[in-house]
Amino acid sequence: MQDQLEKIRIEALAEMQEAETLEILDKLRIKYFGRKGLYTDVMKGMGKLSKEQKPIIGKLSNQIRLEITNKFDQIKEKFNQEKRELQLEEEAIDITLPGRQRQTGRSHPITQILNQIQLIFKGMGFQTVEGPEIELEFYNFDALNTPKDHPARDLQDTFYIDDGVVLRTHTSPVQIRVMKKTTPPIRIIVPGKVYRRDYDITHLPMFNQVEGLLVDHHVTFSELKGVLYSFARQMFGDTIQVRFRPHFFPFTEPSAEVDISCIFCKAKGCRVCSQTGWLEILGSGSVDPNVFKHVNYNPEHVTGFAFGMGVDRIAMLKFGITDLRLMFENDMRFAKQF
Ligand code: PHE
Repeated sequence: MQDQLEKIRIEALAEMQEAETLEILDKLRIKYFGRKGLYTDVMKGMGKLSKEQKPIIGKLSNQIRLEITNKFDQIKEKFNQEKRELQLEEEAIDITLPGRQRQTGRSHPITQILNQIQLIFKGMGFQTVEGPEIELEFYNFDALNTPKDHPARDLQDTFYIDDGVVLRTHTSPVQIRVMKKTTPPIRIIVPGKVYRRDYDITHLPMFNQVEGLLVDHHVTFSELKGVLYSFARQMFGDTIQVRFRPHFFPFTEPSAEVDISCIFCKAKGCRVCSQTGWLEILGSGSVDPNVFKHVNYNPEHVTGFAFGMGVDRIAMLKFGITDLRLMFENDMRFAKQF
């Protein structure tokens, strides 16, 4: 028995040393210590030993079992260690790589300009109000003194939704809505989307306007000029020139279009201002007495002025954008620049 045990010791240790994988190692454990294992088998002979031999063989077998299992644990730990290291290597995160930057949102250029316009007029005591984009033809045209045969009503300009219902072509109908439900003094601006059948690099079927309306006793045209001069200087800078050019709108009389000196060429004449040195930014005028009659105001007692500007156009000028369509494509590379 002693010889058998010694043989098992030598062979087991040698085989384990050569084991290349954890699986082979496990098989070896079974080969020696399993229910039908070689060591287990030899130990079955213990019962047949004499009284004197029993403690000697017992001690030796214990010693050999311990030696082999220690070796087994040691090699197993070595395999596990290797496995862990391999895993760590595979799962390694390269902490020297730069992190992914999150894109932060920001205001659209038109929103930025709108906010600026509102802030400037707030400083002059104007309150912001809004009105519907789907509007009665009556408010959009009739109440604004625009005759039935006016070219602006033409199907080519106006989106008709239904008989007597349109997508508003300007923010001016909100003048009527506000005057109908309040009494002077009125000092409001009206930002909002408006719609016309237009499409090229500077015109889209939807664009943004800001309307202004001031109604009170003894309001004069020079006050309109004062307000718009102040606006233009705050918006475009102190050195900007402003010019009032006679014009016609059905709902104001007298009417004027307002130009600022070209901010690109400093009024010398360039492509943007078509060599004129001037850029048109808004329409304006004293409220036509006929408009007051539609809202039951007495034109003998109240006067006022109104103006309307294109926000998209002002944004294009301020930011030097040449194609209006870019504003609505939601390309982050574009939006990020402002
Ligand atoms: N509603 C006019 C337009 O869209 C602008 C305007 C508003 C002119 C108020 C005069 C007074 O062209």
